[in-house]
Amino acid sequence: MAHQGRARLGDFPCRATAVDLGSATVRMHVNGRGVVASEPSAIARSASNGRLLAAGTSALDLAGERGVKLIRPIRNGVPAEAADTETLLRSLMRSCHRWHYKAYMAKPRMAVTVPSGITQVQLGAVRTAAYGAGARGLTVVATPLAAAAGVGLPRNPEDVVVVADIGAQVTDVGVIIGTELLGSRTALVGGLTLDEAIMAQARWEYGLVLAPSTAESVKLRIGAALPGRDGVALVHGKDKYSELPCTAVLTSADVREAIGPPLAAIVEAVRAGIAVAPPELAAAICAAGITLTGGSAALPGLDELIAKETGLPVRVAPNTLNAAVTGAASFLQRCRDMDDEHTSLWAAAAG
Ligand SMILES: Nc1ncnc2c1ncn2[C@@H]1O[C@H](COP(=O)(O)OP(=O)(O)OP(=O)(O)O)[C@@H](O)[C@H]1O
Ligand SMILES: [Mg+2]
Repeated sequence: MAHQGRARLGDFPCRATAVDLGSATVRMHVNGRGVVASEPSAIARSASNGRLLAAGTSALDLAGERGVKLIRPIRNGVPAEAADTETLLRSLMRSCHRWHYKAYMAKPRMAVTVPSGITQVQLGAVRTAAYGAGARGLTVVATPLAAAAGVGLPRNPEDVVVVADIGAQVTDVGVIIGTELLGSRTALVGGLTLDEAIMAQARWEYGLVLAPSTAESVKLRIGAALPGRDGVALVHGKDKYSELPCTAVLTSADVREAIGPPLAAIVEAVRAGIAVAPPELAAAICAAGITLTGGSAALPGLDELIAKETGLPVRVAPNTLNAAVTGAASFLQRCRDMDDEHTSLWAAAAG
């Protein structure tokens, strides 16, 4: 074992850090402390000189102020801007490890979740961001594998598990045996796509321009994938023509109609993900069913819709939001003996 008999300050176990690099939210888990951060994937820079002003929640608080440029460096689950992703990660690392930085001045080993269909170029951007933010060694884990581990699946090494992680911009579906990702499909659809569909419908039906945050709150308050959750929401926006503030009442039926097409795309991604499994696994998959993780898995009725469309049992995992980061942390434990500056990959770079 690499670290036995050669203890280094950097091996101090509570520093190992897992990161779920989400399009909407970056989550951080520190060994021994649990999930220590859950921050919007955003940084704010000065529009005039590019200086970093804030990261995470404080960056969102500055949005809309004069002279502030808000950047969302993670798009579709991967760093769209490696340098800005590094800045965001470094800032979160500093705030989570403040005490340890002072005490040990050591770099942590890091695990990062990535979409299972990540390309080599995107993987390069993840590496650049992680090592630039201070990682000493890196474990890259495909999101479905991480999410499954985060909810304690599979229970036995020979069990088959199907996990669909439905986040803000990505739906990542994997078929897993033990710690092996047999196959997966990544589709660029998620909760943000649902919000955009609500915005498009409000504009089309009522001539109302909604802020993205308003569309999201309408979805959270009265949205559902199937009939049964009935409610109305009074929304404020701008008139499409006059640009003056105006209001409208949206119903659950309006929202259901708007989000129908992106929900169909999510169902199709789940179907395509399951289709990668060979026929020999059909019986095991029927028995195991599908486990949903990710924030959008909590949309009321989505589990029922997927069950209806696939004919398989579906359950929503208990902690949908933290599943991936918690699972990534467990992979970090398994790669404890790897060398510094070593990247291990628990991902099938699928097509
Ligand atoms: N109760 C809920 N009902 C419906 N949607 C929800 C609920 N809670 C959170 N969401 C949605 O989940 C999404 C965020 O999920 P999550 O935090 O898993 O995304 P992410 O990991 O940042 O993104 P990605 O995995 O796509 O890169 C948002 O679009 C949010 O609106
Ligand atoms: Mg995610």
